[in-house]
Amino acid sequence: MDGNGRWAKQRGLPRIEGHRRGVESVRTVLDAARELGIRYLTLYAFSVENWKRPQDEVGALMGLLEFFLKRETATLIRNKVRLRTIGRIGDLPDTVRLHLERAMEATSSFVDHTLVLALNYGARTEVIDAARAYAAAVAAGKEKLNDSSWSTFSRYLSTADLPDPDLVIRTSGETRLSNFLLMQSAYAEFVFTPVLWPDFGKADLAAAVAEYARRERRFGQTSDQLTPTG
Ligand code: IPE
Ligand code: MG
Repeated sequence: MDGNGRWAKQRGLPRIEGHRRGVESVRTVLDAARELGIRYLTLYAFSVENWKRPQDEVGALMGLLEFFLKRETATLIRNKVRLRTIGRIGDLPDTVRLHLERAMEATSSFVDHTLVLALNYGARTEVIDAARAYAAAVAAGKEKLNDSSWSTFSRYLSTADLPDPDLVIRTSGETRLSNFLLMQSAYAEFVFTPVLWPDFGKADLAAAVAEYARRERRFGQTSDQLTPTG
Protein backbone atom coordinates (compact mmCIF):
# COMPACT_ATOMS: atom_id res chain seq x y z
CA MET A 1 0.00 0.00 0.00
CA ASP A 2 2.08 2.88 -1.29
CA GLY A 3 1.41 6.41 -2.39
CA ASN A 4 -0.58 7.92 0.46
CA GLY A 5 1.88 10.77 0.91
CA ARG A 6 1.98 11.62 -2.80
CA TRP A 7 -1.80 11.48 -3.03
CA ALA A 8 -2.00 14.11 -0.28
CA LYS A 9 0.80 16.23 -1.71
CA GLN A 10 -0.90 16.39 -5.11
CA ARG A 11 -3.85 17.98 -3.35
CA GLY A 12 -1.88 20.29 -1.10
CA LEU A 13 -2.97 18.29 1.94
CA PRO A 14 -0.90 17.04 4.89
CA ARG A 15 0.45 13.47 4.47
CA ILE A 16 -1.85 12.21 7.21
CA GLU A 17 -4.86 13.00 4.99
CA GLY A 18 -3.42 10.55 2.49
CA HIS A 19 -3.14 7.92 5.20
CA ARG A 20 -6.71 8.64 6.24
CA ARG A 21 -7.90 8.07 2.69
CA GLY A 22 -5.69 4.98 2.56
CA VAL A 23 -7.73 3.46 5.40
CA GLU A 24 -10.85 3.82 3.23
CA SER A 25 -9.06 1.94 0.45
CA VAL A 26 -8.34 -0.85 2.90
CA ARG A 27 -12.04 -1.18 3.58
CA THR A 28 -12.87 -1.18 -0.16
CA VAL A 29 -10.17 -3.71 -1.03
CA LEU A 30 -11.16 -6.01 1.83
CA ASP A 31 -14.70 -6.19 0.43
CA ALA A 32 -13.45 -6.59 -3.13
CA ALA A 33 -11.07 -9.38 -2.16
CA ARG A 34 -13.88 -11.28 -0.47
CA GLU A 35 -16.12 -10.85 -3.51
CA LEU A 36 -13.34 -12.13 -5.78
CA GLY A 37 -12.91 -15.22 -3.61
CA ILE A 38 -9.45 -14.30 -2.35
CA ARG A 39 -9.03 -16.22 0.87
CA TYR A 40 -5.84 -14.60 2.16
CA LEU A 41 -5.12 -10.90 1.94
CA THR A 42 -1.94 -9.50 3.46
CA LEU A 43 -1.54 -5.75 3.83
CA TYR A 44 1.88 -4.24 4.42
CA ALA A 45 0.69 -1.56 6.81
CA PHE A 46 3.86 -0.66 8.71
CA SER A 47 7.41 -1.83 8.12
CA VAL A 48 10.27 -2.06 10.60
CA GLU A 49 11.84 0.77 8.59
CA ASN A 50 8.78 3.03 8.93
CA TRP A 51 9.79 3.96 12.51
CA LYS A 52 12.37 6.23 10.85
CA ARG A 53 9.60 8.57 9.62
CA PRO A 54 8.90 11.82 11.48
CA GLN A 55 7.54 11.10 14.92
CA ASP A 56 4.21 12.82 14.31
CA GLU A 57 3.62 10.72 11.19
CA VAL A 58 4.42 7.50 13.06
CA GLY A 59 2.04 8.59 15.83
CA ALA A 60 -0.68 9.38 13.30
CA LEU A 61 -0.26 5.98 11.61
CA MET A 62 -0.59 4.22 14.97
CA GLY A 63 -3.67 6.33 15.71
CA LEU A 64 -5.20 5.32 12.38
CA LEU A 65 -4.46 1.68 13.02
CA GLU A 66 -6.30 1.90 16.34
CA PHE A 67 -9.17 3.76 14.63
CA PHE A 68 -9.36 1.06 11.94
CA LEU A 69 -9.44 -1.75 14.49
CA LYS A 70 -12.13 -0.06 16.58
CA ARG A 71 -14.28 0.64 13.54
CA GLU A 72 -13.78 -2.57 11.57
CA THR A 73 -13.68 -5.38 14.12
CA ALA A 74 -17.48 -5.71 14.08
CA THR A 75 -17.41 -5.89 10.27
CA LEU A 76 -14.69 -8.54 10.32
CA ILE A 77 -16.84 -10.61 12.67
CA ARG A 78 -19.96 -10.09 10.54
CA ASN A 79 -18.09 -11.12 7.38
CA LYS A 80 -16.35 -14.02 9.15
CA VAL A 81 -12.85 -12.73 8.42
CA ARG A 82 -10.06 -13.94 10.66
CA LEU A 83 -7.53 -11.28 11.61
CA ARG A 84 -3.86 -12.19 11.89
CA THR A 85 -0.63 -10.25 12.10
CA ILE A 86 2.93 -10.80 11.02
CA GLY A 87 5.77 -8.72 12.41
CA ARG A 88 7.08 -7.81 15.83
CA ILE A 89 3.82 -6.58 17.31
CA GLY A 90 5.32 -6.52 20.80
CA ASP A 91 6.91 -3.16 19.93
CA LEU A 92 3.62 -1.48 18.98
CA PRO A 93 1.96 0.95 21.40
CA ASP A 94 0.00 -0.83 24.18
CA THR A 95 -3.40 0.49 23.09
CA VAL A 96 -2.88 -0.68 19.50
CA ARG A 97 -1.77 -4.09 20.72
CA LEU A 98 -4.81 -4.35 22.97
CA HIS A 99 -7.21 -3.69 20.09
CA LEU A 100 -5.29 -6.06 17.85
CA GLU A 101 -5.40 -8.85 20.39
CA ARG A 102 -9.08 -8.28 20.99
CA ALA A 103 -9.88 -8.40 17.27
CA MET A 104 -7.71 -11.48 16.69
CA GLU A 105 -9.36 -13.28 19.59
CA ALA A 106 -12.86 -12.37 18.39
CA THR A 107 -12.18 -13.65 14.86
CA SER A 108 -9.88 -16.59 15.56
CA SER A 109 -12.44 -19.29 14.71
CA PHE A 110 -13.13 -18.11 11.15
CA VAL A 111 -11.65 -20.20 8.36
CA ASP A 112 -12.90 -18.90 5.01
CA HIS A 113 -11.13 -15.54 4.88
CA THR A 114 -7.98 -14.27 6.55
CA LEU A 115 -6.77 -10.70 6.73
CA VAL A 116 -3.08 -10.54 7.62
CA LEU A 117 -1.76 -7.19 8.77
CA ALA A 118 2.00 -6.85 8.42
CA LEU A 119 2.85 -4.55 11.31
CA ASN A 120 6.36 -3.66 12.34
CA TYR A 121 7.20 -6.28 9.72
CA GLY A 122 10.42 -6.74 7.80
CA ALA A 123 11.49 -9.89 5.97
CA ARG A 124 15.04 -9.72 7.25
CA THR A 125 14.06 -9.37 10.90
CA GLU A 126 11.61 -12.19 10.33
CA VAL A 127 14.40 -14.45 9.04
CA ILE A 128 16.60 -13.50 11.99
CA ASP A 129 13.80 -14.32 14.44
CA ALA A 130 13.18 -17.62 12.66
CA ALA A 131 16.87 -18.55 12.60
CA ARG A 132 17.10 -17.84 16.31
CA ALA A 133 14.04 -19.97 17.11
CA TYR A 134 15.27 -22.73 14.81
CA ALA A 135 18.71 -22.73 16.45
CA ALA A 136 17.06 -22.94 19.88
CA ALA A 137 14.97 -25.90 18.68
CA VAL A 138 18.10 -27.62 17.36
CA ALA A 139 19.89 -26.98 20.68
CA ALA A 140 16.90 -28.43 22.55
CA GLY A 141 17.00 -31.52 20.34
CA LYS A 142 13.60 -30.78 18.79
CA GLU A 143 15.04 -30.33 15.29
CA LYS A 144 17.93 -32.10 13.60
CA LEU A 145 20.34 -29.87 11.69
CA ASN A 146 20.92 -32.63 9.15
CA ASP A 147 17.21 -32.73 8.34
CA SER A 148 17.09 -29.00 7.60
CA SER A 149 14.83 -28.20 4.69
CA TRP A 150 12.70 -25.29 3.63
CA SER A 151 9.59 -27.07 4.86
CA THR A 152 11.03 -27.46 8.37
CA PHE A 153 12.69 -24.03 8.60
CA SER A 154 9.68 -22.15 7.21
CA ARG A 155 7.65 -23.34 10.18
CA TYR A 156 9.67 -20.85 12.23
CA LEU A 157 8.65 -17.89 10.09
CA SER A 158 5.76 -15.69 11.18
CA THR A 159 3.81 -17.05 8.22
CA ALA A 160 4.16 -20.69 9.38
CA ASP A 161 0.47 -21.44 9.04
CA LEU A 162 -0.21 -19.19 6.04
CA PRO A 163 0.13 -20.07 2.36
CA ASP A 164 2.76 -18.30 0.24
CA PRO A 165 1.36 -15.34 -1.65
CA ASP A 166 0.32 -16.09 -5.24
CA LEU A 167 0.12 -12.43 -6.20
CA VAL A 168 1.94 -9.40 -4.82
CA ILE A 169 0.62 -5.99 -5.81
CA ARG A 170 2.51 -2.76 -5.24
CA THR A 171 0.81 0.55 -5.87
CA SER A 172 2.14 4.02 -6.69
CA GLY A 173 4.55 3.07 -9.46
CA GLU A 174 7.41 1.86 -7.28
CA THR A 175 8.94 -1.38 -8.50
CA ARG A 176 10.63 -2.82 -5.43
CA LEU A 177 9.72 -5.18 -2.61
CA SER A 178 10.96 -3.09 0.32
CA ASN A 179 11.58 -6.06 2.62
CA PHE A 180 8.11 -7.58 2.13
CA LEU A 181 7.74 -11.39 2.39
CA LEU A 182 11.03 -11.96 0.57
CA MET A 183 11.18 -15.69 1.21
CA GLN A 184 7.48 -16.38 0.83
CA SER A 185 7.16 -14.58 -2.49
CA ALA A 186 9.89 -16.69 -4.14
CA TYR A 187 7.33 -17.84 -6.73
CA ALA A 188 4.75 -15.08 -6.42
CA GLU A 189 3.53 -13.14 -9.43
CA PHE A 190 4.07 -9.38 -9.22
CA VAL A 191 1.83 -6.63 -10.42
CA PHE A 192 3.06 -3.05 -10.23
CA THR A 193 0.48 -0.36 -10.80
CA PRO A 194 0.93 3.41 -10.99
CA VAL A 195 -2.33 3.93 -9.06
CA LEU A 196 -1.76 5.58 -5.67
CA TRP A 197 -3.12 3.54 -2.77
CA PRO A 198 -5.89 6.04 -1.81
CA ASP A 199 -7.21 5.75 -5.40
CA PHE A 200 -6.90 1.94 -5.52
CA GLY A 201 -10.35 0.36 -5.75
CA LYS A 202 -12.29 -2.74 -6.69
CA ALA A 203 -11.63 -2.35 -10.42
CA ASP A 204 -7.88 -2.07 -9.79
CA LEU A 205 -7.85 -5.23 -7.71
CA ALA A 206 -9.92 -7.07 -10.30
CA ALA A 207 -7.52 -5.90 -13.03
CA ALA A 208 -4.52 -7.16 -11.06
CA VAL A 209 -6.20 -10.52 -10.54
CA ALA A 210 -7.04 -10.72 -14.26
CA GLU A 211 -3.39 -9.99 -15.07
CA TYR A 212 -2.38 -12.73 -12.63
CA ALA A 213 -4.74 -15.17 -14.36
CA ARG A 214 -2.98 -14.54 -17.69
CA ARG A 215 0.40 -15.53 -16.30
CA GLU A 216 1.81 -19.02 -16.65
CA ARG A 217 3.35 -20.19 -13.40
CA ARG A 218 5.98 -22.79 -14.12
CA PHE A 219 7.75 -23.18 -10.75
CA GLY A 220 10.98 -24.08 -12.53
CA GLN A 221 9.38 -26.47 -15.01
CA THR A 222 8.86 -26.03 -18.73
CA SER A 223 5.64 -24.92 -20.32
CA ASP A 224 5.20 -28.34 -22.01
CA GLN A 225 5.47 -30.13 -18.69
CA LEU A 226 2.58 -28.10 -17.36
CA THR A 227 0.30 -28.68 -20.32
CA PRO A 228 1.49 -31.93 -21.95
CA THR A 229 -1.21 -31.71 -24.60
CA GLY A 230 0.09 -28.30 -25.63
C1 IPE B 1 2.22 4.17 2.25
O1 IPE B 1 2.17 5.46 1.74
C2 IPE B 1 1.68 4.12 3.65
C3 IPE B 1 2.53 3.47 4.66
C4 IPE B 1 3.73 3.02 4.51
C5 IPE B 1 1.93 3.37 5.96
P1 IPE B 1 3.45 6.39 1.84
O2 IPE B 1 3.32 7.20 3.10
O3 IPE B 1 4.69 5.62 1.71
O4 IPE B 1 3.23 7.35 0.59
P2 IPE B 1 4.38 8.03 -0.30
O5 IPE B 1 5.31 6.97 -0.75
O6 IPE B 1 5.03 9.07 0.55
O7 IPE B 1 3.59 8.63 -1.44
MG1 MG C 1 5.99 5.22 0.17
